[in-house]
Amino acid sequence: MNVIVLNGSPKGAKSVTLQYVAYIAKHFPAHTLKTIHISRRIRHLERDVAAFDAVMDEIRAADAILWATPVYHLLVPAGYKRFIELVFEKNAAAVFDGKPTAVLTTSIHFYDHTAHNYLHAICDDLAMRHVGCYSADMYDLLKAPERKRLAAFAALMFTEMASQRPAHRQFPPLVWSGGTYAPAGSPIPWTRVAGGSF
Ligand SMILES: Cc1cc2nc3c(=O)[nH]c(=O)nc-3n(C[C@H](O)[C@H](O)[C@H](O)COP(=O)(O)O)c2cc1C
Repeated sequence: MNVIVLNGSPKGAKSVTLQYVAYIAKHFPAHTLKTIHISRRIRHLERDVAAFDAVMDEIRAADAILWATPVYHLLVPAGYKRFIELVFEKNAAAVFDGKPTAVLTTSIHFYDHTAHNYLHAICDDLAMRHVGCYSADMYDLLKAPERKRLAAFAALMFTEMASQRPAHRQFPPLVWSGGTYAPAGSPIPWTRVAGGSF
């Protein structure tokens, strides 16, 4: 299976997260994992249309996508979030449509669930087939039982990616609720004070 790894760490190849990807690649040589350093290259991807399109071409040609990222500030690194914005801004969402995908994070388990929920919702918005997620502690690779757990996840991930099983959509799409902003005198009493409003 040809898997594109979208690396969310601005540290690029030296990132902790990529060591987990390297561990998976080493233990599953039957699969090819090719990494694209998204956050590290985000300024370039933002400005250079050809570079962005080249990433989309890689994703289009892949059998599956692995979102591999650290948790930063209760979410994903800003550059990763910007990349996701660019996908929608540039109307490139169709490239991801139907692709099997999984999420791998490293963190100290502080609000890692918000990062996972966010990425799962993005996968749902992109109509991807989300097969699973894994939240590793940044020091897990140093522990034999955790390495075993990671390998078990990876085995299941590859099996599910290769299967044709439909995925369960977890997050409904955001629907624009409409509404018009008409600030003609505030209807909220506490914003009105003698002599004017604040
Ligand atoms: C700026 C910054 C913010 C972080 N924020 C969080 C956080 O909110 N929650 C958490 O569990 N870990 C947080 N961490 C820890 C990282 O997720 C952890 O060190 C991760 O393994 C780093 O991966 P990387 O080397 O691939 O970037 C943060 C680390 C940094 C540098």
